Amino acid sequence: MRIDDILFTNVPEWLYLKGYLYLAEVVLVNKNSYNIVVVGATGAVGTEMLKILNERNFPINELRLLASSRSVGKTINCAGENYTVKELKHDSFKDIDIALFSAGAARSKEFAPTAVKSGATVIDNSSYYRMDKDVPLVVPEINPSDAFSGHGIIANPNCTTIIMIMALKPLYDYSKIKRIIVSSYQAASGAGMKAMNELSNQAKSWAKGDKIVVDKFPYQLLFNVIPQVDRFMPNGYTKEEMKMVNETRKILHDADIKISATCVRVPIFRAHAEAVTIELSDDITPLKAKELIGNFSGINVADNDNEANYPMPLFMSGKDDCEVGRIRGDINGKNWLSFWVVGDQLRKGAALNAVQIAELLINK
Ligand code: A2P
Repeated sequence: MRIDDILFTNVPEWLYLKGYLYLAEVVLVNKNSYNIVVVGATGAVGTEMLKILNERNFPINELRLLASSRSVGKTINCAGENYTVKELKHDSFKDIDIALFSAGAARSKEFAPTAVKSGATVIDNSSYYRMDKDVPLVVPEINPSDAFSGHGIIANPNCTTIIMIMALKPLYDYSKIKRIIVSSYQAASGAGMKAMNELSNQAKSWAKGDKIVVDKFPYQLLFNVIPQVDRFMPNGYTKEEMKMVNETRKILHDADIKISATCVRVPIFRAHAEAVTIELSDDITPLKAKELIGNFSGINVADNDNEANYPMPLFMSGKDDCEVGRIRGDINGKNWLSFWVVGDQLRKGAALNAVQIAELLINK
């Protein structure tokens, strides 16, 4: 038996490649600008990634845009320059430092190991690697050091989870959270560009009196709410609901938190809202909660009942920070708290978080 066989028995195939990763990280630290590829550049999250890389002046040497064969030859403007979309292939990653993946789990499964083998660090927005014990799951404001514990692939958490956990973390640091009960109100764009277009087309068809076409969602979303996001699991929860449970525990390094989620699709284009009730280990006042959340990076308080001041998706779309309102002591007890949190799931819930992870790597 070779030494490699002994060391790497029963590990995922891509972990064989970790030697390449260490090389990639060393290269990352020493560069002034980086070769970046966006996989899924034509999609809802990919498009947002391009905007955010530009807005944040990410130091880019070469930018490569990849999508399916359907998009080959399409031109996308980024920072005043036109880029031609190329097809995602196994030889697409030569000389790439950072690969931002947002083209679905199947593409991440197939191509992320190739990218790592080519020397790139992958930041993956899909769910494929999130619960892999060898893959860190990172929200930079919450567990930045985890980003450096991986082997070439870093997972970006689920959008609904990121938005909730941004509000939870400052409270958790004050007093351990024992239980979370959450209901989400999720925008159409969480299911991708085509889903967002479907809602828009349903509104146009309704206004014209035309037949309403349903394809991406199980039912008409216009004038409806659908209590199903992703497929059902054998335990009666949906996959999205179980992502919230498992990913929250992984990011907070706390397997004991009791979490129950109900995820609901609502007919809005972008920004997810969530109604959250938590039980903490210690008593907390709404005033203290406002102070803790208000002092945390990436999240703000918008909470004044007298002025009907609370965050709403209409006004949170396109914003980087999340917002919390309706903060109230829960009638169940002094160690309970209820609140409402809203965040743009294409930004903090996906593209912004991924770019922030890339910034962590280059600023190490
Ligand atoms: P394309 O536009 O060519 O289909 P969204 O989540 O908004 O639906 O976006 C999904 C992204 O993933 C798009 O950029 C899409 O490209 C890309 N994608 C989907 N299937 C593939 C594939 N087989 N190979 C490469 N990219 C893909």
